[in-house]
Amino acid sequence: MHFYVITLFPEAFDSYLNESIIGRAIKEKRIKVTFVNPRMFVSGKKYKRVWPDGNVSRIVDDRPFGGGPGMIIRAEPVLKAVESIAKKIAKKENRKTKIIHFSPSGTKFTTSYAKATVKKYTDVVMLCGRYEGIDARVAKILKAEDVSIGDYVLTGGELPAMVLIDSMARQIPGVLGTFDSLEEERVSSSEFYTRPEVLEWKKKKYAVPPVLLSGDHKKIEAWKMEHNKKEP
Ligand code: ADE
Repeated sequence: MHFYVITLFPEAFDSYLNESIIGRAIKEKRIKVTFVNPRMFVSGKKYKRVWPDGNVSRIVDDRPFGGGPGMIIRAEPVLKAVESIAKKIAKKENRKTKIIHFSPSGTKFTTSYAKATVKKYTDVVMLCGRYEGIDARVAKILKAEDVSIGDYVLTGGELPAMVLIDSMARQIPGVLGTFDSLEEERVSSSEFYTRPEVLEWKKKKYAVPPVLLSGDHKKIEAWKMEHNKKEP
């Protein structure tokens, strides 16, 4: 699975994607994440200025038609960014691309959405808005699906993109490793305990459920079933 993230803030992903399971999945080439910054596709005198000292400012946003607070990311740099990705994908064979645009009012993202997307697609392009959002024509032109990660409003699409990458990556064979990949088939619980057997905290004692220390596998499985983790 190849994820393409269109974002004005690619650095926001650095530490998370380089850590632990996702970092390993990238190193082992089970997933690939490519960032494309629409700022690099800004053109025209009005938006791209070269200063006498050689510095270049690239203005990616503009004021909303019809008025209102905040700025809107212009369509052109985003469309050009997606076009540059589409050209790369077109060079490969047997690819199936999905384009996602993040919006708090979109289709609710769930584990089953993640599973279905991993099954059906080889490339997922994610459009991360900032400020008041991206010019609405972009999603229409690209036939992108609006996707929400929950009923709350965030300041941009970067956190939703990280959520999708994490959740989809763990559906890809080998990403969780041999031990964890068995997890879905195993009876699993939402309660886990480790040493010590009795935890002392502020003069109170907290013991591990005795059944987990009993060594009786049937009873342990039954206890885990009772405390089963629900997959959304
Ligand atoms: N952009 C802002 N809030 C969002 C949310 N909850 N889900 C997806 N994209 C968003």
